[in-house]
Amino acid sequence: MSTDPSRPDTPDTLRRRIAEHSSSAWALSTLRAAAECGLLERLREPSSIRHVASALSADAQVVERMADVLVAMGVLDRDDERYWISEAMAPQCAPGAVDVLRADLRALFGQSARFVEDARRGELAPGWRHTDPELIDAQGVISQATTGPVVRFALPQLPGALDRLAEPDAAVLDVGAGAAGFSIGICRAFPNVRVVGLEPGDVPYTAAVRNVLAAGLEGRIELRKQPVEALDEREAFDVSYMAQMFFPDRVLGECFARVHAALRPGGWVMTAVVHQPGSDLVPALSRLKVTLWGGGPRSFEDLERAARRAGFAEFVRMEMPGTVLPGFAARRTW
Ligand SMILES: C[S@@+](CC[C@H](N)C(=O)[O-])C[C@H]1O[C@@H](n2cnc3c(N)ncnc32)[C@H](O)[C@@H]1O
Repeated sequence: MSTDPSRPDTPDTLRRRIAEHSSSAWALSTLRAAAECGLLERLREPSSIRHVASALSADAQVVERMADVLVAMGVLDRDDERYWISEAMAPQCAPGAVDVLRADLRALFGQSARFVEDARRGELAPGWRHTDPELIDAQGVISQATTGPVVRFALPQLPGALDRLAEPDAAVLDVGAGAAGFSIGICRAFPNVRVVGLEPGDVPYTAAVRNVLAAGLEGRIELRKQPVEALDEREAFDVSYMAQMFFPDRVLGECFARVHAALRPGGWVMTAVVHQPGSDLVPALSRLKVTLWGGGPRSFEDLERAARRAGFAEFVRMEMPGTVLPGFAARRTW
């Protein structure tokens, strides 16, 4: 029996579903391969397949097939002889930005591979337990890239935050610092800021120490190998970023309470809202991912309720152009 998804008379079998979705898997694999081998960088300028394949020491036929897939995805444009990055995709393939794209794809493939491996081993459970340094570094690159939209769009929506961060004693708390991407990004954006980053995991903590040293920020970023439950500072920070989407429910309330105590009056805690209601594939996948991250889907209202219980009294729903997720912020009032 035919399983060709383009034929309307094909019965709705599981094989047909696999055939439909395999296009997404192959398309993303092609994009990742192009990001990993340097094809995207090479095609910032129009180039022939023969030229680019030779520069990459790759087989010209395979490179041509990859390029055709990327044209179909809208990543590349072509004429009779040459291929190049399409105008719409050029900013994401620019120097620096392409590292974030590569990190995004590494994080996606790393997480889904671990998910399948856990299933094969009978170890399916919620929680971020990744120890692959490539994946952890990729998360750090993604976090560092999000500090751009945080500085441009999120912080200006929080009364007083930018003024505080310009003060000589400005201090930021990064809860769930991972590879320290956010800590590094926020230090670069605000020259006065000192950061305390909390990261209890061995591998991410080691990556964070290495990344902070490589950035030359060891004098401004203090990394603590501890969970947020061990934080006992009082009125020490102006702004906190909380990676709550990775924290289980039993930690969430205590996390808000400890961060509330650690903020100076008038200070803000912020986080992203990972919650998509609905039964379609995209929201269902979003709930699966955030459950595997350990936090589970939390709406703006869920976060507001938990923050209010911890003493926060002012709340902002932040639209974040340039990022996938909207933001939540809560203020410690006086
Ligand atoms: C995926 S990372 C966030 C990415 C990070 N911003 C970066 O730049 O790499 C989330 C981190 O939260 C940490 N975490 C989990 N539970 C925690 C807790 N109770 N207190 C503090 N951090 C925690 C995890 O170890 C994990 O490394």
